[in-house]
Parts: sequence; structure tokens; C-alpha cells
Amino acid sequence: MDVASLLRCPQCKATELSVQSKQMICAECGYCCPGRMGFYDFMDQAMNKRVASTAEQRFMESELVARVYERVWRPNFVRLMAGKGAEALTGGFAGEFFIHKNSLSMDERDGPWLDLSCGPGMFSRAMASASPGSWVIGLDIARSMVEVAASRGRGYDNLVFIRGDAHELPIDDGCITGVNNSGALHVYDDPEAVFTEILRVLKPDGLFVGSTFAPAKSLFGRLSSQVAGIRRFAPSELRAWLSRVGFADYEEVRLGDAFIFRVRKP
Ligand SMILES: C[S@@+](CC[C@H](N)C(=O)[O-])C[C@H]1O[C@@H](n2cnc3c(N)ncnc32)[C@H](O)[C@@H]1O
Repeated sequence: MDVASLLRCPQCKATELSVQSKQMICAECGYCCPGRMGFYDFMDQAMNKRVASTAEQRFMESELVARVYERVWRPNFVRLMAGKGAEALTGGFAGEFFIHKNSLSMDERDGPWLDLSCGPGMFSRAMASASPGSWVIGLDIARSMVEVAASRGRGYDNLVFIRGDAHELPIDDGCITGVNNSGALHVYDDPEAVFTEILRVLKPDGLFVGSTFAPAKSLFGRLSSQVAGIRRFAPSELRAWLSRVGFADYEEVRLGDAFIFRVRKP
């Protein structure tokens, strides 16, 4: 399957995209996106640029943070925000990916998969290895992140990176088996718009697996999220919210002041 058949034009929303000489071209409106540096930048010309609204998102857009994110930024940030009990998240990526992979039922299902807000692509690469023969789309809004993700993802023939906005996914309706969304809910301007988009792009019975921060138990945890401008989600509220949007079968694993959840598109 050609990856272009999973996408929709970021300009006119038609599903008439095809890849020609490394360019993504829309037969409907003539939109043309060069596949530069190993990714497609759908934010460049076609979409209104969303401006980073949190301090954390401004950091995400820095080239330095994108480069040191996986080894330095992420483990320390998660340790600070998730506190005691989050060892599955802070004790190495293998344990964390194991939970996501099983929650997405990657051993039993074929893709395509979407790693939404992929950052430098740590999950995207692991997903591409876990599901050879299925497309994995890594999508993020920060150019610096997608550049690093694309350079680290070179050599995977089932992995493609797109710079795009989670609030307006350039992906066709009902074509994705599972959406992975690790540690990004707290940076979205409008999580409900993102949930609605995830529901739209999933196939019936498709799975949405995410992780985020829960209300902190300690004063230190509460203060650090205030300083970083981090929104925390009460699991019971998130469960009700996702069900209002149209998801079913909410489940969660609590890890300190963070949790991993899974819902299904009916
Ligand atoms: C904390 S990082 C998480 C990265 C990765 N998923 C992980 O678990 O390490 C949050 C990511 O969300 C991205 N992001 C923020 N707003 C976004 C949006 N509107 N659309 C897509 N990605 C967005 C940021 O650029 C950043 O890479």
C-alpha cells in the first residue's frame, strides 16, 4: 500500500495525494509538498501555523532539545512530573514500549499505525520494528522534532514522518488501526479537537493508546507542573471526556502521577 493513500491533502482535504519524484502531490488542488530531509512538511504552506502556547512547547521547538530529548530531557522530565511509582516510564524505554505495544495489540493486528506527536520518533521506530510490513506514520508539529525523527528513522522502509497539527490531521477517515499518543495531551490547545480527529482517522474497532500526567499527590509535583505550565488530567474526567467524544472500553494503568490509557472506537 502506498502511504499517500492514507493521507489527505492539508490544503483542500481531498484524498487525491500521490508521491511523484519524492513530492506529495494533490491531483485535486495541485498542492505540492517536497519530501525534504526525509519528511513531508505539511505545515509549511498549507496550514495556518499554530503558535506554541506553553513554555514546554517552546522548548520542544528548539533544535537542542530535539537532539537531547530522548536521552536527557524526557527521562528527567517524566521523573520530575510523575514521581514515585513511575519506574515503568523512567527505568528505560523497553518497559514503557512493552505496555504501549500490548495495549495497541500490535502482535495481533496489522497497521497502519499513527504515532501522534512523535517527538524525535522513539516510539515510531519501535513501532516500525514491531510491525514490519505495516506503515507507521510519525506526526509532530515541531520542525526540529520531525527533522531529528526523520534522520534517526532512516533505513526503515515502513516509516514516514509528517510535520502536521494533531488538531487537523492530514489523514483519511477510518484508515488507521491504532493511534499511539505518548506524553502529549498536556501540550495541546484543545484536547477535545484532537480526540475527535483521532476518532475520525481510526478504523472501527481501532485503538487509541495514550499516556499523560495525573494530578500530583505531592506539593512538589503540583508546584513543578505549575512552573512548567503543565495541565494534568484526572483519569475519571478523561474517561468521561473520551466517552462523550465517542470512544468505548476505557482502561488505564496508573504509574505514579502518570497513567497509560486505552480506548476503542466502537
Ligand atoms: C512531550 S513531547 C512527547 C514526544 C513523544 N511522544 C514521547 O513520548 O517522547 C510532546 C510532543 O507533542 C508535540 N506537539 C505539540 N503540539 C502539537 C500539535 N498541535 N500537533 C502535533 N504535535 C504537537 C510537540 O512538538 C512534542 O514533540
